Parts: sequence; structure tokens; C-alpha cells
Amino acid sequence: MSILRILGIETSCDETAISLIEVDEAGAHVRVLGNAVHSQIDVHASYGGVFPTLAKREHQRNLVPVLEKVLRQADMLERMNRASATPEKIEAAEAILSREPELWESFKATVPVIARPAIDFISVTIGPGLEPALWVGINFARALATVWDMPVVPCNHMEGHILAALIQEKAGTFELLERSISYPAISLLISGGHTQIVLVESIDALRGGIYRIVGETRDDAVGECFDKIARTLGLAYPGGPKISRLAALARKAGIESPEPLPRPMMESGDIDFSFSGLKTAVLYLTRRLSGASGAPLDEAAMRGIARETEDAITDVLVAKMRKAVERYAVATLIIGGGVIANSHIREALEKLANECSLSIFLPQIDHSTDNGLMIALAGYFGRTKAVSADTTLAAAGTLALGLRAAAEPAAAQKAEKTP
Ligand code: KG4
Ligand code: ZN
Repeated sequence: MSILRILGIETSCDETAISLIEVDEAGAHVRVLGNAVHSQIDVHASYGGVFPTLAKREHQRNLVPVLEKVLRQADMLERMNRASATPEKIEAAEAILSREPELWESFKATVPVIARPAIDFISVTIGPGLEPALWVGINFARALATVWDMPVVPCNHMEGHILAALIQEKAGTFELLERSISYPAISLLISGGHTQIVLVESIDALRGGIYRIVGETRDDAVGECFDKIARTLGLAYPGGPKISRLAALARKAGIESPEPLPRPMMESGDIDFSFSGLKTAVLYLTRRLSGASGAPLDEAAMRGIARETEDAITDVLVAKMRKAVERYAVATLIIGGGVIANSHIREALEKLANECSLSIFLPQIDHSTDNGLMIALAGYFGRTKAVSADTTLAAAGTLALGLRAAAEPAAAQKAEKTP
């Protein structure tokens, strides 16, 4: 049986991530041959967020070591005594990496002296994300594809988050689940940069996915809201996991917030979001509690506010998803993005699915935050968009997933007319 081997490269934010997967001809099973993520959290923590030029520098430093790690895991790191590519190809790779001199140095020392791995193509995130960070990954993918003589598939990071939910581990391999979904489905994407509700019209192993954005945030993303509130509370970036830990402690000890927090736009009747008001409410509450001296909050207040923050965000997400399900009369939820690593939000969405008899697809916790596997999967579903390595691919910081829906959906109009 023939198989496809895909190397996925992700550098849109602060994770340098690569994964090597194998998909069988029937498109039913995925084996992960290698998978590695190098997180830059420590580098960015002191800035309270991700600093784009630092992210670019870190990706330049980490891409080659992460690639070596992945190839070693896949048993495909074979060193040679002579160059494995022609001088012309190596020169072309140097030209592609002319703006990433540090990356070129490590690339030159490694890639030409390892045997070309048995990979069919490379997929890489071209957006959305931080452009300086995206460029490094794109140029690295093109340089590798040049030396190894294979095509490149440009991928959308948010599509990767959707697809990460559509694999299920079974005895060491992953089953692909896109065929067991009844379309259209509704996807909730919650990450550091995005909060979107997406109507997934179809996902097809040959034609790829068709998506329509039907709701999104008007200001901050959910992950950004977690991170900014954490910062107000004096917690380091990324704040989501830290708030979640404090919230769990508060629930265990029965600690409540000193004051309730708002659930912005929860009753607005649409499926858009706003999170900046929640962030501001925590800022004012913290200032009031600290008093004129600006004293740090006591541990109980911190825990209580963390719990109320997580509850407020969860309430809004669940209410909007309930509304989206009614409006589009869907039977399937697909959840993606780093924030779905949050177990409280996971449980609340699972409960919603249960109550409304919906099927729900969630990524494994370790596939929730950015990783290379999701981009390798996006490459598999997007392989008809493959281009040759000498095609210029530009970083697209605000790349959209499908189109913003213009009007009320036909399904909703139909549903409203049905008695
Ligand atoms: O998808 P992701 O890894 O990167 C982007 O594409 O933005 O998402 C990162 C975001 C960060 O804002 C981080 O605070 C949040 O996901 N996050 C969490 C949790 N783990 C990560 N938020 C809440 N609870 C968590 N356990
Ligand atoms: Zn992401």
C-alpha cells in the first residue's frame, strides 16, 4: 500500500514545532514518526507576551536542532561523508535563507550532510501569526524542499487547529475522523490570537476544507484575555495555564471572587465576542483591592479572581456555542486552539454537547497548543495546493480561514420557519 510522508513546520508564534507523519493511501490512519516542539516561553516571559523579533531569532536558532530531533525519532537521520545535494541546490537554499543568516549557518552545517529523508512533501504555516516568525519557517521549508527536491504546501494555522481535533489515538496510530462528521459542523477556535466560530461546510481528504467564519471577537482573543488578566495579577506569560491552576485551587477550597466579573456580550443575541471589558474589570477590581499602596493581592483574592475569570470566559463561550448550534442546526462541534488545553472549558463544552446530543471533537491536550502535527495534517488535506520550492511564498500575518459570512445562514432561516 502506498503512503504519504509529510514534514509539517510551524513557527507562527513562540513555538518552533516540527512533525513528521505518515498517512496511508486510504487516508484513514496517521502514524506520527517524529514530533518535537521547542517552546520559547522562558525567553518571552519577562516581556509579558511574545516579542516578534525575539521569536524570529529563536526560530532561527531552533529549527535545525528540532528537525534533527524529529528525523532521529523517525530513524531517518543518516549522516553522509559527502554532500547529499548538488552545489547549485545548496546555493539556491542559501539565497532563500539570505535574510536568516543564523539559520543558514546551522542549515549549511547539517542539511547537506544528511541523507535525503523519504518524505513526499513539506507543509508550512504561512499565516495567520507574527510575520517575522512566519517568514523564518517559510524560508526554512523552501530551503529544505530545494535541497531535498520536493514540493511545499502552504498552510493556514487555524485550519491546523481544526484538524488537530480530528484524529483519535488507537493502539499507537491515529485514526482520521473527518469522514465520521455530519456536515456542516461548527468549530470554535480559541487561541492567543484568535477567537472565532467557524461553519465547517466540509472537510474532504482530496478537496480539503471549506470554512466560513460566522462569529469572532471584536477586540481581544480569549487566550490574550487570559494572558492579560494573568499579567494584571502578577503572573508570568503565558497566563492561561496559571489562571487555570489558581481557579482549580479556588474551586477545591470553595473560594469565591471578592466581586463578580462581567460576561461581555453574552446576551447580545449574535455569536460575536468581546473580551476587553473583562480584562478592564479585573484591572479595576485589582486596583480597588490593592488600595492606594498598590499592595499585592492576597492569595485568596488571586484564586477567587482566577476562578471568576475562568467562569466568565467559560459562560460566554458556552452561551455563544449554544446559540451557534441553534442558528446553524448542526450536530457536530469541533474545538481547537491553545485555550482548549483548559480542562474547565473542555468539560463545559462536553457538557453542552451532551445536553444537546451533539458529537464533539476535541484535540488531545498536548495537541491543543501550537504543534507541528497540526500543520502536517493541514498539509495532507491541502496537498493539492502544493507548489515547487522555488515559488515565492509570503508570510500572511492576518490570513483568514475562509470568508466572513455576510448574512444570516439559509439553514437558520429554514429552521426558524419550521414549526
Ligand atoms: O494556539 P496557541 O498555542 O497559540 C496561538 O495560536 O495563539 O494558544 C496559546 C494561548 C495562550 O494565550 C495561552 O495562555 C492559552 O493558549 N492557553 C490556555 C491554557 N493553555 C494555553 N488558556 C487557558 N487555560 C489553559 N490551560
Ligand atoms: Zn495556535
